[in-house]
Amino acid sequence: MTNQYDIVYQESIDQPETFWGRVAEDCHWYKKWDKVLDDSDKPLYRWFVGGQMNTCYNALDYHVDDRGRGDKIAIIYDSPVTNTIKKFTYAETRDIVATFAGVLKDNGVEKGDRVLIYMPMIPEAAFAMLACARIGAVHSVVFGGFAAKELATRIEDAKPKVIVSASCGIEGQRVIKYKPLLDEAIEIATAKPAKCIIYQRPQETAPLIAGRDVDWMEAAASATPAACVPVAATDPLYILYTSGTTGQPKGVVRDNGGHVVALKWTMKAIYDIDEDDIWWAASDVGWVVGHSYIVYAPLFKGCTTLLFEGKPVGTPDAGVFWRIISEHKVKCMFTAPTAYRAIKREDPKAELMKGYDLSQFKILFLAGERSDPDTIQWSEKNLGVPVIDHWWQTETGWAIAANCMGLHHFPVKYGSPTKAVPGWDVRVLDAYNREIPSGEIGALSVKLPLPPGTLPTLWQNDERYIESYLSEFPGYYKTADAGIIDAEGYIYVMARTDDIINVAGHRLSTGAMEEVLADHPDVAECAVLGVEDKLKGQIPVGFLVLNAGVKRAHPEIIKEVIQMVRDRIGPVAAFKMATVVKRLPKTRSGKILRGTIQKIADNKECNVPATIDDPATLTEIETALEGIGLAKARPTD
Ligand code: COA
Ligand code: AMP
Repeated sequence: MTNQYDIVYQESIDQPETFWGRVAEDCHWYKKWDKVLDDSDKPLYRWFVGGQMNTCYNALDYHVDDRGRGDKIAIIYDSPVTNTIKKFTYAETRDIVATFAGVLKDNGVEKGDRVLIYMPMIPEAAFAMLACARIGAVHSVVFGGFAAKELATRIEDAKPKVIVSASCGIEGQRVIKYKPLLDEAIEIATAKPAKCIIYQRPQETAPLIAGRDVDWMEAAASATPAACVPVAATDPLYILYTSGTTGQPKGVVRDNGGHVVALKWTMKAIYDIDEDDIWWAASDVGWVVGHSYIVYAPLFKGCTTLLFEGKPVGTPDAGVFWRIISEHKVKCMFTAPTAYRAIKREDPKAELMKGYDLSQFKILFLAGERSDPDTIQWSEKNLGVPVIDHWWQTETGWAIAANCMGLHHFPVKYGSPTKAVPGWDVRVLDAYNREIPSGEIGALSVKLPLPPGTLPTLWQNDERYIESYLSEFPGYYKTADAGIIDAEGYIYVMARTDDIINVAGHRLSTGAMEEVLADHPDVAECAVLGVEDKLKGQIPVGFLVLNAGVKRAHPEIIKEVIQMVRDRIGPVAAFKMATVVKRLPKTRSGKILRGTIQKIADNKECNVPATIDDPATLTEIETALEGIGLAKARPTD
């Protein structure tokens, strides 16, 4: 045992119940658990069974009532797109949340009911989430960049009693009206919410539908604040939909007890944040990073969290991050590498950093996609602080691998998010469930049980949960990432093993995009692949085979399919490139050779696969890629 990390890690793996039981003492419980870990229904595990608590109490009331820290700033809202900075103390936040919880109750929401939240990056999004937690309702936040159809799919699955939304979001200079998207989604979905509560922003007043729509501020004016309701530790706190391999997203469930315990602990152990610190996660409440590290974990910890409505560039320029870090005295920041790539591209010499006092800034954390060494080194050089890559997923809710800065700072190895975080027994497996020697690539998997705060199941679908994550490698959770663990325990995450791609830190399914393209009347067959992109990491590119006899101009068809993806999945898919090919390269058994197409597009060395049906199809793909300006590598025999 050489350092704090080693000691903590070992205990978390050898004696998980002792370890997490002790960590849980740091949270507020109405009734303590009967059992730390219930493993009586393997492969399903439950943490803190028998415990009674409330997530909102732990996030707000605990700091106000039990710790006398009501005057401490809980949330700083910094919105360059509306020229607004607002600060909310813990006491103020608690009061606003309690009142909005009263509004939810007045509109029929009870414990266990679902509330869908479709909001831009305004504090009301966090208030709505916490208000649900306060009364034991289950929230499901949907990212604003999704189209009405995606929203409808989530409404259909979660069956919310109430939807909370806002009149608009602001994307750079553009005002995006949310209400028409919401109305269309409700029209498409067969499950209809009883009420929609709309927060009217000054930039846009949404017309309300009488009898169904409620004005947030008007309702709040007459609502009675609601108290926290004790819930079981194992009751669901939220559902967060994430891309699966089909158009049907997976409803990742998070329960209440394990979530508070694990997330509060991570703030110090991973991020080295104490309760007097200012913390900034520049993400969106629609993603897991927003749930865990804009809203919940920093509030559990009792520190200040910064909620940013803007972009790393263009709001107003590539210096906005430095302005915010300096102005609000941010100690640590967390964002996706793509945000720093965007800044680096606009301001390669970091000229806009000059003049800002960043002396209190201590650590930059990156996650959501692979951190390329260039971006890490540029950030290290210009910020003069450690830049820490860490690896996790919507499903896991918090980091699987990281350099745990509150425990021990290991030397950084570029390309690696460092080591397994305490609680995570990470192994590399082959197709036969056998461990692979260190240094060799295989399926990154986690030995069960997963630690608290991870997904206990998928929303009302244990079967899909087991099938998707727990069946391929019995006894393990399948991360669907391939990678390596080296002799020193450093983990390297290399690639997804499924058809998920990562576009600007956003997780998207190429399968879902293919489903949309296949719906075009002129398309006979198609494939969508994630091609390397300098800014966004990957971008989707569509390959279309048209029906025999189609005479229409290809650019016209391409324009239509691009619009279809935008309309059905949303602008966030960033689907802007497609090409028509005569045939797709396939094996003799008819499987599309995606890996080979990918390598050609990414300009990587590749061999002509022995199983290919017709090698000429590769030349056709090369020509098509050249036509849309993508690099090519000539396959060799
Ligand atoms: N509501 C409506 N539309 C949205 C939206 C939202 N909340 N978020 C994104 N969009 C739209 C954008 O306006 C854009 O539309 P366009 O095609 O009409 O221009 C499209 O979705 C793609 O958005 P984005 O991926 O953000 O690309 P961008 O080119 O506008 O910005 C970056 C590029 C790198 C600056 C941006 O992706 C970024 O800041 N990434 C950080 C990623 C991040 O925080 N990830 C969370 C995980 S940690
Ligand atoms: P999401 O569920 O959107 O958080 O996406 C999770 C996926 O993003 C993971 O399965 C990885 O493929 C990828 N990912 C997240 N963080 C990292 C990282 N630090 N390095 C490499 N890939 C990452």
